[in-house]
Amino acid sequence: MTLNVSSSKVEVAKNFANYFVEICKSKPVVHIALSGGSTPKIVFDELAANHKTAIDWAKVHLYWGDERCVWPYDDESNYKMTYNHLISKIDIPELNIHRIKGENGPRYEAEHYSQFLNIVLPKTNGIPTFDLVILGMGDDGHTASIFPNQIELWNSENYCEVAEHPVSGQKRITITGQLINNAETVAFLVTGESKTERVYEILNNKDLATMYPASLVVPTKGNLEWFLDEAAAAKVTSAQS
Ligand code: 6PG
Repeated sequence: MTLNVSSSKVEVAKNFANYFVEICKSKPVVHIALSGGSTPKIVFDELAANHKTAIDWAKVHLYWGDERCVWPYDDESNYKMTYNHLISKIDIPELNIHRIKGENGPRYEAEHYSQFLNIVLPKTNGIPTFDLVILGMGDDGHTASIFPNQIELWNSENYCEVAEHPVSGQKRITITGQLINNAETVAFLVTGESKTERVYEILNNKDLATMYPASLVVPTKGNLEWFLDEAAAAKVTSAQS
């Protein structure tokens, strides 16, 4: 596991964007699962503004680690956020965009996306393998759309599951632990002081941490990168200094 601590959210975005570019250069074709959330949004802005020509987007296939069960033009849609901040600004083939269809029935789409990933992704250990899974982490320690009150979804035998936001009740489709931990690399993008305690508990293996889905991210291949700002890392760096 590697900690990449930057001074601010914008610096996290710049550092991760450089890392993203290197991942995209590393192989003839790369399969990347994106995340929703505020930090990925500024990463997409950074990629669109300063790296759009540094990447051969024809070799990059974009997927989502989770999606809200809404239409793609809904402001709640992770796809819409990605389209507005990145996809609409880069020269990427439409066939390389593999959105979760939030407008479909949740159970149908969870099954459909599971089957799709099983067909199109390369496999290691007999499991579909992303080159990179980008994750955020909620204040409650959720990641993708696996929330603490539904942590059993992490160990589902299915590659995708139907989740439900614990407050709004919004249905979501999420990839599950076996896909996340089978990725070549997992990158957490976590910023802000609201994440300080969770980050500290998880990175220092505190007893409470096991109740947080984010603590279950332990990639089999060992490549786990945390991209944090100083606010989110405040207790970790002091604990490790
Ligand atoms: C989503 C995201 C979600 C997000 C966290 C962190 O669909 O909302 O996938 O898991 O990553 O809620 O969000 P922030 O980065 O905005 O704190």
